[in-house]
Amino acid sequence: MTPSRFVTSGDVQLALYTWGEPAGRPTLLLVHGYPDSAHVWQAVAEQLSVDHYVVAYDVRGAGNSTRPERTADYALPLLVRDMEAVLDAVAPHQKVHLVAHDWGSIQSWEVVCDERLEQRFASFTSMSGPCLDHVGHWLRDRLRAGSRHDLGLLASQVSHSWYIGMFQLPGLAPTIFRVAGDAFQRRLAAREGLTAAPPSPTFALDGRYGVNLYRANVTERLRQPAVRRTGLPVHLLCSREDHYMVPEIWDSLTEWAPNVYRSEVDSTHWLQLVQPAEVVRHVRAFVRHVDGQGQSPLSMERARRYAHGGRAPTGSQRGKLVLVTGAGSGFGRETALLFAREGADIVAVDLHADTAKETARRCQQLGRSAWSRQVDVGDPAAMHALAEWVHQQLGAPDVVVNNAGIGLAGSFFDTTDADWDRLLRVNLGGVILGSRLFGQQMKDAKKPGHIVNVASMAAYTPSRTVAAYATTKAAVRMLSDCLRAELADDGVHVSTICPGFSITNITQTTRFVGRTAAQEVEQQQKATRLYQRRNLLPATIAQAILDAVEHRRDDVPVGSEAHGARWLARLSPALLRRLARVDLGA
Ligand SMILES: NC(=O)c1ccc[n+]([C@@H]2O[C@H](COP(=O)([O-])OP(=O)(O)OC[C@H]3O[C@@H](n4cnc5c(N)ncnc54)[C@H](O)[C@@H]3O)[C@@H](O)[C@H]2O)c1
Repeated sequence: MTPSRFVTSGDVQLALYTWGEPAGRPTLLLVHGYPDSAHVWQAVAEQLSVDHYVVAYDVRGAGNSTRPERTADYALPLLVRDMEAVLDAVAPHQKVHLVAHDWGSIQSWEVVCDERLEQRFASFTSMSGPCLDHVGHWLRDRLRAGSRHDLGLLASQVSHSWYIGMFQLPGLAPTIFRVAGDAFQRRLAAREGLTAAPPSPTFALDGRYGVNLYRANVTERLRQPAVRRTGLPVHLLCSREDHYMVPEIWDSLTEWAPNVYRSEVDSTHWLQLVQPAEVVRHVRAFVRHVDGQGQSPLSMERARRYAHGGRAPTGSQRGKLVLVTGAGSGFGRETALLFAREGADIVAVDLHADTAKETARRCQQLGRSAWSRQVDVGDPAAMHALAEWVHQQLGAPDVVVNNAGIGLAGSFFDTTDADWDRLLRVNLGGVILGSRLFGQQMKDAKKPGHIVNVASMAAYTPSRTVAAYATTKAAVRMLSDCLRAELADDGVHVSTICPGFSITNITQTTRFVGRTAAQEVEQQQKATRLYQRRNLLPATIAQAILDAVEHRRDDVPVGSEAHGARWLARLSPALLRRLARVDLGA
């Protein structure tokens, strides 16, 4: 990247980069961290420049800016002065939206908590860089509280920050960056999943000089933290896999920044490199929200609730967005509730508006954000509309559970064209649409997402009594196997869940073809009694779905009958084919 100009701040020349046109657009100022340079923003800046004027600069010691030799030249007041010089140069009379990462965010806190400078900003998006004074207070509070939990958190944060101690040793870090800078960059890139771009072309030099940021500022601030507050709208973008920070460090931020929003991104530390599209989406939504341009997307309401809901959820699905179809009953409802208990926000989709709404209400009672949508998963237009709504309002989901399905039993020859059409549309078409539309969103957002397709043990077992149903479920299983292979390079995983006989409403709604209405009711009651005796609870299937997501499982039978069927399908398919002749409906 070539600087568009240089800005003078005292003895230092700061390299400035700009994207897009300034006239009539919000101005964004992007501040990078350590060890990197403004280069780290390139992908994000290019995308945002479509509707923003974007400015980034190399902070002192990084990229193409001057690299002072003395540690004292990296003190926070000088960094604040640098940012002010950049503001004077690019936006002397208007407010800018500040977006900052790592040390860029640390110095930005310094600026936005300054009463005079705060006026120059419209908002602040903070990524992986807390205010050092807030951290100082957080550490003291944990020590003072002294509970096992608090001391555990303290120990955890210290273990995440071991390198800060190492950076205090004179000469060590500069020597490492001088002697083995390239090797270190490769290791860091592998650890952080930076396959697309390295943090900075001047990485070794950025690391060598930038280490002074730690040496000049950290010890004093942590030892004697000041009270620093800001009234600006602040949006925290937290990486779920940040190796340098425990998420609890943000939990008391409302005390210092009452107008705070919080969103999680399924990323490592350098989220702007790992998931640029997600960062762009969040920044764009926040700027629109703050500037009051049009209606704010629901993602802002979600972020607000997340930040102000007291202690952030701690479950394995913390901060994730999970969409479940068929969420109004049975496995779908149990799955939505279980993921909500594990910290996820939920989109509950069902054919029936009232039952979907009830599921969403119960998820909200668990403290999560949840929305319901009435959608027929077998209707392509309705599914496209759902996907568009999710994309516009909330962004790509992290997990999609294609669960909605209906039952049908009886002879192949009694199964009419209309029966086939409905079953294929819902049981297979719904899964195809859900996988394609949301899989595409995950791919586009570069999300390590997860698609869970609910098939059935019928996918393993042929049977003369469920030809149509088993055909749809076997197709779901095959589709999932193919899709898993195709999405492997995108980091999106696909699981197939194959439950046995579980007691849900499905036994009451399954069509029994070739029977009179009275016989059909009799069959439904018989199936209900059989399934009740089996007593495989929907909660067990929900747990299997959660487990499949947590452990990225492929093909998951649930219940001993499903395990047995899969085992037999491998060991003796011929025997299964013979068993298929047994008329279970007789
Ligand atoms: N219960 C079992 O024994 C069992 C076993 C194996 C597989 N399954 C599969 O599990 C899934 C869930 O079944 P369940 O047992 O929880 O049944 P359920 O009837 O309790 O729940 C299914 C939900 O899907 C919804 N639904 C039906 N058609 C829909 C459509 N076109 N669009 C949107 N929503 C729709 C229903 O309104 C209902 O809320 C189904 O795919 C089913 O085939 C169930």
